[in-house]
Amino acid sequence: MKGQKTTFVCRECGATSIKWLGKCPDFGSWDSFDEIAIEKKNAPIRQSQNKAEKFSELTLPEYMRAKTGMNELDRVLGGGLVDGSVVLLSGEPGIGKSTLLLQICDVISRTKSVLYVSGEESKGQLKLRAKRLGINGESLYLLTETDVDSVLAECEGLKPDVIIIDSIQTLSSGRFTSAQGSITQVRESAMELINYAKRNGASVFLVGHVTKDGAISGPKILEHMVDAVLYFEGERTNSYRIIRAIKNRFGSTNEIGVFEMRDTGLAEIPNPSEVVIAERPSNTSGSCAGCVMQGTRPIISEIQALVTKTAYPTAKRTCDGFDNSRMALLIAVLEKRIGLKFYENDVYLNVAGGIYLNEPSADLSIAMALISGITDKVISDEIIAFGEIGLSGEVRAVSHIDYRVKEAVRLGFTKIILPKKNVTPSLKVSSGVELVGVSNIYEVIPHMVNKSK
Ligand code: TYD
Ligand code: MG
Repeated sequence: MKGQKTTFVCRECGATSIKWLGKCPDFGSWDSFDEIAIEKKNAPIRQSQNKAEKFSELTLPEYMRAKTGMNELDRVLGGGLVDGSVVLLSGEPGIGKSTLLLQICDVISRTKSVLYVSGEESKGQLKLRAKRLGINGESLYLLTETDVDSVLAECEGLKPDVIIIDSIQTLSSGRFTSAQGSITQVRESAMELINYAKRNGASVFLVGHVTKDGAISGPKILEHMVDAVLYFEGERTNSYRIIRAIKNRFGSTNEIGVFEMRDTGLAEIPNPSEVVIAERPSNTSGSCAGCVMQGTRPIISEIQALVTKTAYPTAKRTCDGFDNSRMALLIAVLEKRIGLKFYENDVYLNVAGGIYLNEPSADLSIAMALISGITDKVISDEIIAFGEIGLSGEVRAVSHIDYRVKEAVRLGFTKIILPKKNVTPSLKVSSGVELVGVSNIYEVIPHMVNKSK
Protein backbone atom coordinates (compact mmCIF):
# COMPACT_ATOMS: atom_id res chain seq x y z
CA MET A 1 0.00 0.00 0.00
CA LYS A 2 1.30 3.39 -0.86
CA GLY A 3 2.62 5.20 2.17
CA GLN A 4 1.99 2.26 4.49
CA LYS A 5 4.86 1.62 6.91
CA THR A 6 3.76 -1.67 8.44
CA THR A 7 1.96 -4.83 7.50
CA PHE A 8 0.56 -7.79 9.47
CA VAL A 9 1.98 -11.27 8.92
CA CYS A 10 0.58 -14.55 10.22
CA ARG A 11 3.38 -16.21 12.12
CA GLU A 12 1.93 -19.63 11.42
CA CYS A 13 1.60 -19.56 7.66
CA GLY A 14 3.08 -16.28 6.43
CA ALA A 15 -0.23 -14.81 5.12
CA THR A 16 -0.23 -11.01 5.04
CA SER A 17 -2.95 -8.49 5.75
CA ILE A 18 -3.01 -4.69 5.85
CA LYS A 19 -5.11 -4.82 9.03
CA TRP A 20 -4.73 -6.88 12.17
CA LEU A 21 -6.97 -9.94 12.13
CA GLY A 22 -8.05 -12.07 15.08
CA LYS A 23 -8.20 -15.23 13.01
CA CYS A 24 -6.00 -16.09 10.06
CA PRO A 25 -8.32 -16.76 7.10
CA ASP A 26 -5.76 -19.11 5.51
CA PHE A 27 -4.46 -21.15 8.44
CA GLY A 28 -7.38 -20.79 10.82
CA SER A 29 -5.13 -19.92 13.77
CA TRP A 30 -6.18 -17.34 16.36
CA ASP A 31 -4.14 -14.33 17.46
CA SER A 32 -1.28 -15.16 15.11
CA PHE A 33 -0.83 -11.83 13.27
CA ASP A 34 2.30 -9.80 14.09
CA GLU A 35 2.86 -6.26 12.91
CA ILE A 36 6.09 -5.87 10.98
CA ALA A 37 7.70 -2.85 9.37
CA ILE A 38 7.90 -2.65 5.59
CA GLU A 39 11.41 -1.49 4.93
CA LYS A 40 12.92 -0.58 1.68
CA LYS A 41 16.64 -1.03 1.75
CA ASN A 42 18.70 1.63 0.08
CA ALA A 43 21.79 -0.53 -0.01
CA PRO A 44 23.93 -0.41 -3.17
CA ILE A 45 23.58 -3.29 -5.65
CA ARG A 46 25.81 -6.10 -4.40
CA GLN A 47 28.46 -7.59 -6.65
CA SER A 48 28.02 -11.35 -6.36
CA GLN A 49 31.08 -13.38 -5.36
CA ASN A 50 29.51 -16.54 -6.77
CA LYS A 51 30.35 -17.45 -10.33
CA ALA A 52 28.38 -19.85 -12.50
CA GLU A 53 30.26 -23.09 -13.14
CA LYS A 54 29.92 -25.77 -15.79
CA PHE A 55 27.87 -28.70 -14.55
CA SER A 56 30.27 -31.23 -16.07
CA GLU A 57 33.18 -29.72 -14.13
CA LEU A 58 31.57 -29.96 -10.70
CA THR A 59 33.09 -32.51 -8.36
CA LEU A 60 30.99 -35.20 -6.70
CA PRO A 61 30.66 -34.72 -2.94
CA GLU A 62 31.75 -37.58 -0.70
CA TYR A 63 29.20 -38.22 2.02
CA MET A 64 30.52 -39.86 5.14
CA ARG A 65 27.86 -42.16 6.51
CA ALA A 66 27.59 -43.79 9.90
CA LYS A 67 25.87 -47.14 10.23
CA THR A 68 23.05 -47.10 12.75
CA GLY A 69 23.17 -50.82 13.47
CA MET A 70 19.75 -51.21 11.89
CA ASN A 71 19.96 -52.15 8.21
CA GLU A 72 16.29 -51.36 7.79
CA LEU A 73 16.87 -47.77 8.92
CA ASP A 74 20.14 -47.39 7.02
CA ARG A 75 18.41 -48.35 3.80
CA VAL A 76 15.71 -45.70 4.27
CA LEU A 77 18.41 -43.11 5.05
CA GLY A 78 20.11 -44.01 1.76
CA GLY A 79 22.92 -46.14 3.22
CA GLY A 80 23.45 -44.75 6.71
CA LEU A 81 23.32 -41.49 8.63
CA VAL A 82 25.17 -38.78 6.70
CA ASP A 83 27.54 -36.73 8.86
CA GLY A 84 26.17 -33.24 9.42
CA SER A 85 22.66 -34.10 8.26
CA VAL A 86 19.44 -33.26 10.05
CA VAL A 87 16.72 -35.92 10.03
CA LEU A 88 13.15 -35.43 11.18
CA LEU A 89 11.60 -38.63 12.51
CA SER A 90 7.89 -38.25 12.89
CA GLY A 91 5.07 -40.50 13.94
CA GLU A 92 2.15 -40.80 16.29
CA PRO A 93 2.80 -40.91 20.02
CA GLY A 94 3.59 -44.42 21.24
CA ILE A 95 4.63 -45.77 17.84
CA GLY A 96 8.21 -46.40 18.96
CA LYS A 97 10.30 -43.35 18.00
CA SER A 98 12.11 -43.06 21.34
CA THR A 99 12.68 -46.81 21.42
CA LEU A 100 14.23 -46.85 17.95
CA LEU A 101 16.47 -43.88 18.65
CA LEU A 102 17.70 -45.27 21.95
CA GLN A 103 18.53 -48.53 20.21
CA ILE A 104 20.53 -46.87 17.43
CA CYS A 105 22.24 -44.54 19.94
CA ASP A 106 23.65 -47.60 21.62
CA VAL A 107 25.28 -48.76 18.37
CA ILE A 108 26.46 -45.35 17.17
CA SER A 109 27.92 -44.45 20.57
CA ARG A 110 30.44 -47.29 20.21
CA THR A 111 32.27 -45.27 17.56
CA LYS A 112 31.00 -41.71 17.97
CA SER A 113 29.96 -39.43 20.80
CA VAL A 114 26.18 -39.25 21.12
CA LEU A 115 24.00 -36.88 23.14
CA TYR A 116 20.38 -37.89 23.75
CA VAL A 117 18.24 -34.93 24.77
CA SER A 118 14.84 -35.80 26.20
CA GLY A 119 12.21 -33.25 27.06
CA GLU A 120 9.54 -35.86 27.60
CA GLU A 121 10.88 -38.43 30.00
CA SER A 122 12.89 -38.33 33.19
CA LYS A 123 16.35 -39.88 33.49
CA GLY A 124 14.84 -42.67 35.59
CA GLN A 125 12.28 -43.54 32.92
CA LEU A 126 14.96 -43.54 30.24
CA LYS A 127 17.24 -45.73 32.33
CA LEU A 128 14.36 -48.14 32.81
CA ARG A 129 13.73 -48.29 29.09
CA ALA A 130 17.44 -48.76 28.37
CA LYS A 131 17.49 -51.65 30.84
CA ARG A 132 14.53 -53.24 29.09
CA LEU A 133 16.29 -52.89 25.76
CA GLY A 134 19.50 -54.33 27.16
CA ILE A 135 21.41 -51.10 26.58
CA ASN A 136 24.30 -50.22 28.80
CA GLY A 137 25.02 -46.86 27.14
CA GLU A 138 28.66 -46.72 28.22
CA SER A 139 29.52 -43.71 26.06
CA LEU A 140 26.05 -42.28 25.60
CA TYR A 141 25.27 -38.91 27.18
CA LEU A 142 21.80 -38.10 28.39
CA LEU A 143 20.33 -34.67 29.03
CA THR A 144 16.80 -33.95 30.20
CA GLU A 145 16.16 -30.37 29.15
CA THR A 146 13.48 -28.33 27.40
CA ASP A 147 15.37 -25.05 26.96
CA VAL A 148 17.04 -24.92 23.54
CA ASP A 149 19.72 -22.47 24.67
CA SER A 150 20.79 -24.82 27.48
CA VAL A 151 20.83 -27.70 25.02
CA LEU A 152 23.08 -25.74 22.67
CA ALA A 153 25.37 -24.70 25.55
CA GLU A 154 25.73 -28.37 26.51
CA CYS A 155 26.45 -29.25 22.88
CA GLU A 156 29.19 -26.60 22.72
CA GLY A 157 30.84 -28.23 25.72
CA LEU A 158 30.41 -31.89 24.78
CA LYS A 159 30.81 -31.50 21.00
CA PRO A 160 28.77 -34.63 20.23
CA ASP A 161 28.90 -36.17 16.74
CA VAL A 162 25.24 -37.17 16.91
CA ILE A 163 22.45 -35.33 18.74
CA ILE A 164 18.99 -36.77 19.33
CA ILE A 165 16.20 -34.34 20.22
CA ASP A 166 13.18 -36.12 21.68
CA SER A 167 11.03 -34.24 20.83
CA ILE A 168 11.31 -30.92 18.98
CA GLN A 169 7.86 -29.92 20.32
CA THR A 170 9.15 -29.91 23.90
CA LEU A 171 11.95 -27.43 23.18
CA SER A 172 11.48 -23.70 23.65
CA SER A 173 13.53 -20.59 24.15
CA GLY A 174 12.99 -17.76 26.64
CA ARG A 175 13.74 -15.33 23.82
CA PHE A 176 10.27 -15.86 22.38
CA THR A 177 7.05 -15.17 24.18
CA SER A 178 4.94 -17.86 22.52
CA ALA A 179 4.15 -21.05 24.38
CA GLN A 180 6.11 -24.29 24.29
CA GLY A 181 5.01 -26.40 21.34
CA SER A 182 3.83 -23.37 19.34
CA ILE A 183 4.93 -23.03 15.78
CA THR A 184 7.31 -20.16 16.51
CA GLN A 185 9.07 -22.09 19.27
CA VAL A 186 9.32 -25.28 17.22
CA ARG A 187 10.61 -23.46 14.17
CA GLU A 188 13.14 -21.33 16.04
CA SER A 189 14.42 -24.25 18.12
CA ALA A 190 14.81 -26.38 15.01
CA MET A 191 16.57 -23.48 13.26
CA GLU A 192 19.10 -23.07 16.08
CA LEU A 193 19.83 -26.80 16.12
CA ILE A 194 20.18 -26.97 12.34
CA ASN A 195 22.60 -24.04 12.39
CA TYR A 196 24.59 -25.73 15.14
CA ALA A 197 24.67 -28.99 13.17
CA LYS A 198 25.85 -27.31 9.97
CA ARG A 199 28.53 -25.29 11.83
CA ASN A 200 29.92 -28.28 13.70
CA GLY A 201 29.27 -31.14 11.29
CA ALA A 202 27.07 -32.93 13.81
CA SER A 203 24.17 -35.15 12.75
CA VAL A 204 20.84 -34.43 14.36
CA PHE A 205 17.70 -36.52 14.74
CA LEU A 206 14.62 -34.45 15.54
CA VAL A 207 11.61 -36.36 16.81
CA GLY A 208 8.33 -34.76 15.76
CA HIS A 209 4.88 -35.82 16.85
CA VAL A 210 2.18 -35.91 14.26
CA THR A 211 -1.30 -34.63 14.83
CA LYS A 212 -4.42 -36.70 14.28
CA ASP A 213 -4.76 -35.63 10.66
CA GLY A 214 -1.22 -36.79 9.88
CA ALA A 215 0.47 -33.38 9.64
CA ILE A 216 3.62 -32.87 11.66
CA SER A 217 2.31 -30.56 14.30
CA GLY A 218 4.14 -27.29 14.53
CA PRO A 219 4.42 -27.52 11.41
CA LYS A 220 5.06 -28.62 7.88
CA ILE A 221 7.67 -25.85 7.93
CA LEU A 222 10.14 -28.28 9.54
CA GLU A 223 9.99 -30.48 6.48
CA HIS A 224 11.58 -27.77 4.36
CA MET A 225 14.34 -27.10 6.85
CA VAL A 226 15.72 -30.61 7.34
CA ASP A 227 17.65 -32.92 5.00
CA ALA A 228 15.43 -35.95 5.43
CA VAL A 229 11.92 -36.58 6.72
CA LEU A 230 11.08 -40.08 7.91
CA TYR A 231 7.63 -41.26 8.88
CA PHE A 232 7.18 -44.04 11.39
CA GLU A 233 3.86 -45.76 10.72
CA GLY A 234 1.94 -48.69 12.01
CA GLU A 235 -1.22 -49.69 13.78
CA ARG A 236 -1.34 -49.70 17.55
CA THR A 237 -3.10 -53.04 17.42
CA ASN A 238 -0.47 -54.59 15.18
CA SER A 239 3.17 -55.01 16.18
CA TYR A 240 4.60 -54.25 12.72
CA ARG A 241 6.09 -50.81 12.09
CA ILE A 242 7.17 -49.27 8.81
CA ILE A 243 9.61 -46.40 8.29
CA ARG A 244 9.21 -44.48 5.09
CA ALA A 245 11.22 -41.54 3.75
CA ILE A 246 9.05 -38.63 2.64
CA LYS A 247 12.04 -36.55 1.69
CA ASN A 248 15.72 -37.44 1.50
CA ARG A 249 18.49 -35.23 0.14
CA PHE A 250 20.93 -38.15 0.32
CA GLY A 251 18.94 -41.08 -1.02
CA SER A 252 15.78 -42.42 -2.59
CA THR A 253 12.37 -41.91 -1.03
CA ASN A 254 11.03 -45.22 -2.28
CA GLU A 255 12.68 -47.42 0.29
CA ILE A 256 10.92 -48.64 3.40
CA GLY A 257 12.19 -50.25 6.58
CA VAL A 258 10.11 -52.86 8.39
CA PHE A 259 10.28 -53.54 12.13
CA GLU A 260 8.39 -55.44 14.74
CA MET A 261 7.82 -54.08 18.24
CA ARG A 262 8.71 -56.80 20.71
CA ASP A 263 9.04 -56.70 24.47
CA THR A 264 12.79 -56.24 23.98
CA GLY A 265 12.40 -53.29 21.62
CA LEU A 266 12.22 -52.99 17.85
CA ALA A 267 13.45 -55.92 15.82
CA GLU A 268 14.25 -55.68 12.13
CA ILE A 269 12.20 -57.66 9.64
CA PRO A 270 14.54 -58.11 6.68
CA ASN A 271 12.05 -60.37 4.85
CA PRO A 272 8.60 -58.82 5.32
CA SER A 273 7.13 -61.03 2.58
CA GLU A 274 7.78 -64.14 4.64
CA VAL A 275 5.79 -62.74 7.55
CA VAL A 276 2.80 -61.94 5.35
CA ILE A 277 2.86 -65.34 3.70
CA ALA A 278 3.20 -67.23 6.96
CA GLU A 279 -0.11 -65.83 8.20
CA ARG A 280 -2.09 -66.59 5.04
CA PRO A 281 -5.21 -68.68 5.45
CA SER A 282 -5.58 -71.48 2.90
CA ASN A 283 -8.63 -72.70 0.97
CA THR A 284 -10.40 -69.36 1.41
CA SER A 285 -12.04 -67.36 -1.34
CA GLY A 286 -11.26 -63.68 -1.78
CA SER A 287 -7.54 -63.95 -1.11
CA CYS A 288 -4.77 -63.43 -3.63
CA ALA A 289 -1.01 -62.86 -3.28
CA GLY A 290 0.53 -59.89 -5.09
CA CYS A 291 3.91 -58.24 -5.33
CA VAL A 292 4.78 -54.54 -5.29
CA MET A 293 8.17 -52.87 -5.48
CA GLN A 294 9.14 -50.68 -2.54
CA GLY A 295 12.26 -48.99 -3.85
CA THR A 296 14.63 -51.76 -4.81
CA ARG A 297 12.84 -54.40 -2.78
CA PRO A 298 9.94 -56.54 -3.97
CA ILE A 299 7.38 -57.06 -1.21
CA ILE A 300 4.78 -59.75 -1.34
CA SER A 301 1.44 -58.97 0.21
CA GLU A 302 -1.84 -60.73 0.58
CA ILE A 303 -4.96 -59.00 -0.68
CA GLN A 304 -8.24 -59.98 0.89
CA ALA A 305 -11.63 -59.11 -0.52
CA LEU A 306 -14.86 -59.82 1.28
CA VAL A 307 -17.87 -59.52 -1.01
CA THR A 308 -21.31 -59.86 0.57
CA LYS A 309 -24.90 -59.15 -0.52
CA THR A 310 -25.74 -55.59 0.37
CA ALA A 311 -28.53 -54.62 2.73
CA TYR A 312 -28.27 -50.93 1.78
CA PRO A 313 -29.74 -48.96 -1.12
CA THR A 314 -26.16 -48.19 -2.28
CA ALA A 315 -23.57 -50.89 -1.91
CA LYS A 316 -20.72 -50.19 0.54
CA ARG A 317 -17.10 -49.97 -0.52
CA THR A 318 -14.34 -50.05 2.09
CA CYS A 319 -10.70 -50.21 1.19
CA ASP A 320 -7.62 -50.37 3.41
CA GLY A 321 -4.10 -50.33 2.03
CA PHE A 322 -5.06 -49.37 -1.52
CA ASP A 323 -6.46 -46.32 -3.27
CA ASN A 324 -10.25 -46.13 -2.95
CA SER A 325 -10.89 -44.69 -6.38
CA ARG A 326 -8.56 -47.21 -8.03
CA MET A 327 -10.58 -49.99 -6.40
CA ALA A 328 -13.80 -48.43 -7.73
CA LEU A 329 -12.23 -48.34 -11.19
CA LEU A 330 -11.23 -52.02 -11.03
CA ILE A 331 -14.73 -52.96 -9.87
CA ALA A 332 -16.20 -51.02 -12.81
CA VAL A 333 -13.87 -52.85 -15.22
CA LEU A 334 -14.92 -56.24 -13.78
CA GLU A 335 -18.62 -55.32 -14.03
CA LYS A 336 -18.35 -54.13 -17.60
CA ARG A 337 -15.88 -56.65 -19.04
CA ILE A 338 -16.81 -59.83 -17.16
CA GLY A 339 -20.36 -58.98 -16.13
CA LEU A 340 -19.88 -59.53 -12.39
CA LYS A 341 -22.65 -57.88 -10.37
CA PHE A 342 -20.70 -55.91 -7.79
CA TYR A 343 -23.47 -53.28 -7.56
CA GLU A 344 -25.54 -55.78 -5.56
CA ASN A 345 -22.69 -56.39 -3.14
CA ASP A 346 -20.74 -54.66 -0.40
CA VAL A 347 -16.99 -54.89 -0.93
CA TYR A 348 -14.42 -54.81 1.88
CA LEU A 349 -10.84 -54.86 0.63
CA ASN A 350 -7.85 -55.21 2.90
CA VAL A 351 -4.12 -55.51 2.34
CA ALA A 352 -2.64 -57.74 5.03
CA GLY A 353 0.64 -56.74 6.68
CA GLY A 354 0.15 -52.97 6.69
CA ILE A 355 1.82 -52.26 3.33
CA TYR A 356 0.15 -49.60 1.18
CA LEU A 357 -0.07 -50.76 -2.43
CA ASN A 358 0.74 -47.65 -4.40
CA GLU A 359 1.82 -49.30 -7.62
CA PRO A 360 -0.36 -50.20 -10.64
CA SER A 361 1.20 -53.69 -10.64
CA ALA A 362 -1.09 -54.51 -7.69
CA ASP A 363 -4.15 -54.22 -9.99
CA LEU A 364 -4.15 -57.84 -11.15
CA SER A 365 -3.93 -59.34 -7.67
CA ILE A 366 -6.67 -57.00 -6.44
CA ALA A 367 -8.93 -57.83 -9.36
CA MET A 368 -8.34 -61.54 -8.77
CA ALA A 369 -9.15 -61.22 -5.06
CA LEU A 370 -12.37 -59.40 -6.04
CA ILE A 371 -13.35 -62.04 -8.60
CA SER A 372 -12.56 -64.80 -6.12
CA GLY A 373 -14.57 -62.99 -3.44
CA ILE A 374 -17.70 -62.59 -5.57
CA THR A 375 -17.61 -66.04 -7.20
CA ASP A 376 -16.54 -67.79 -3.96
CA LYS A 377 -13.86 -69.68 -5.89
CA VAL A 378 -10.46 -70.21 -4.35
CA ILE A 379 -7.09 -69.06 -5.66
CA SER A 380 -4.56 -71.70 -4.66
CA ASP A 381 -1.71 -70.83 -2.26
CA GLU A 382 0.84 -71.52 -4.98
CA ILE A 383 -0.46 -68.65 -7.15
CA ILE A 384 0.85 -65.10 -7.16
CA ALA A 385 -0.21 -62.40 -9.64
CA PHE A 386 0.98 -58.97 -10.75
CA GLY A 387 0.10 -56.73 -13.65
CA GLU A 388 -1.54 -53.41 -14.44
CA ILE A 389 -5.14 -53.43 -15.64
CA GLY A 390 -6.41 -51.02 -18.29
CA LEU A 391 -9.98 -49.82 -18.79
CA SER A 392 -10.72 -52.45 -21.45
CA GLY A 393 -9.68 -55.18 -19.04
CA GLU A 394 -6.31 -55.64 -20.74
CA VAL A 395 -3.35 -56.66 -18.58
CA ARG A 396 -0.37 -54.38 -19.15
CA ALA A 397 3.31 -55.01 -18.61
CA VAL A 398 5.03 -53.94 -15.36
CA SER A 399 8.61 -53.02 -14.46
CA HIS A 400 11.23 -54.91 -12.39
CA ILE A 401 9.86 -58.24 -13.53
CA ASP A 402 13.03 -60.19 -12.65
CA TYR A 403 13.00 -58.96 -9.05
CA ARG A 404 9.34 -59.85 -8.57
CA VAL A 405 9.61 -63.30 -10.11
CA LYS A 406 12.76 -64.08 -8.09
CA GLU A 407 11.11 -63.06 -4.82
CA ALA A 408 7.98 -65.08 -5.65
CA VAL A 409 10.04 -68.16 -6.41
CA ARG A 410 12.12 -67.67 -3.25
CA LEU A 411 8.94 -67.71 -1.19
CA GLY A 412 7.76 -70.93 -2.76
CA PHE A 413 5.13 -69.75 -5.27
CA THR A 414 4.99 -72.18 -8.18
CA LYS A 415 2.48 -70.51 -10.48
CA ILE A 416 3.11 -66.88 -11.42
CA ILE A 417 0.36 -65.06 -13.31
CA LEU A 418 1.85 -62.06 -15.06
CA PRO A 419 1.31 -59.84 -18.12
CA LYS A 420 1.92 -61.70 -21.37
CA LYS A 421 4.21 -58.90 -22.56
CA ASN A 422 6.50 -59.58 -19.61
CA VAL A 423 7.00 -63.23 -20.53
CA THR A 424 10.17 -62.98 -22.60
CA PRO A 425 12.85 -65.60 -23.35
CA SER A 426 15.23 -63.74 -21.02
CA LEU A 427 12.88 -64.36 -18.07
CA LYS A 428 14.08 -67.67 -16.69
CA VAL A 429 12.67 -69.64 -13.78
CA SER A 430 13.68 -72.91 -12.21
CA SER A 431 11.84 -76.09 -13.21
CA GLY A 432 8.62 -76.64 -11.33
CA VAL A 433 7.65 -72.96 -11.58
CA GLU A 434 5.02 -72.10 -14.14
CA LEU A 435 4.78 -68.68 -15.77
CA VAL A 436 1.26 -67.89 -16.96
CA GLY A 437 1.16 -64.89 -19.30
CA VAL A 438 -2.25 -63.23 -19.54
CA SER A 439 -3.34 -60.38 -21.77
CA ASN A 440 -6.90 -59.87 -20.51
CA ILE A 441 -8.48 -60.08 -17.10
CA TYR A 442 -10.98 -62.84 -18.00
CA GLU A 443 -8.05 -65.20 -18.69
CA VAL A 444 -7.40 -65.52 -14.93
CA ILE A 445 -10.79 -67.08 -14.16
CA PRO A 446 -9.83 -70.68 -15.14
CA HIS A 447 -7.08 -70.50 -12.49
CA MET A 448 -9.63 -70.32 -9.69
CA VAL A 449 -11.15 -73.52 -8.30
CA ASN A 450 -14.16 -74.51 -6.23
CA LYS A 451 -13.66 -74.63 -2.47
CA SER A 452 -12.59 -78.03 -1.18
CA LYS A 453 -14.82 -79.27 1.60
P1 TYD B 1 7.96 -45.17 22.45
O1 TYD B 1 9.30 -45.43 21.86
O2 TYD B 1 7.93 -44.53 23.79
O3 TYD B 1 7.06 -44.33 21.45
P2 TYD B 1 7.18 -42.81 20.99
O4 TYD B 1 8.49 -42.30 21.40
O5 TYD B 1 6.98 -42.88 19.51
O6 TYD B 1 6.05 -42.10 21.65
O7 TYD B 1 7.21 -46.57 22.46
C1 TYD B 1 6.14 -46.73 23.26
C2 TYD B 1 5.46 -48.05 23.08
O8 TYD B 1 6.30 -49.13 22.76
C3 TYD B 1 4.84 -48.37 24.40
O9 TYD B 1 3.46 -48.52 24.18
C4 TYD B 1 5.48 -49.62 24.85
C5 TYD B 1 6.06 -50.21 23.63
N1 TYD B 1 7.35 -50.90 23.87
C6 TYD B 1 7.43 -52.26 23.64
O10 TYD B 1 6.46 -52.92 23.25
N2 TYD B 1 8.62 -52.89 23.83
C7 TYD B 1 9.74 -52.22 24.26
O11 TYD B 1 10.82 -52.83 24.42
C8 TYD B 1 9.64 -50.82 24.50
C9 TYD B 1 10.80 -50.03 24.98
C10 TYD B 1 8.43 -50.19 24.28
MG1 MG C 1 8.84 -40.84 22.85
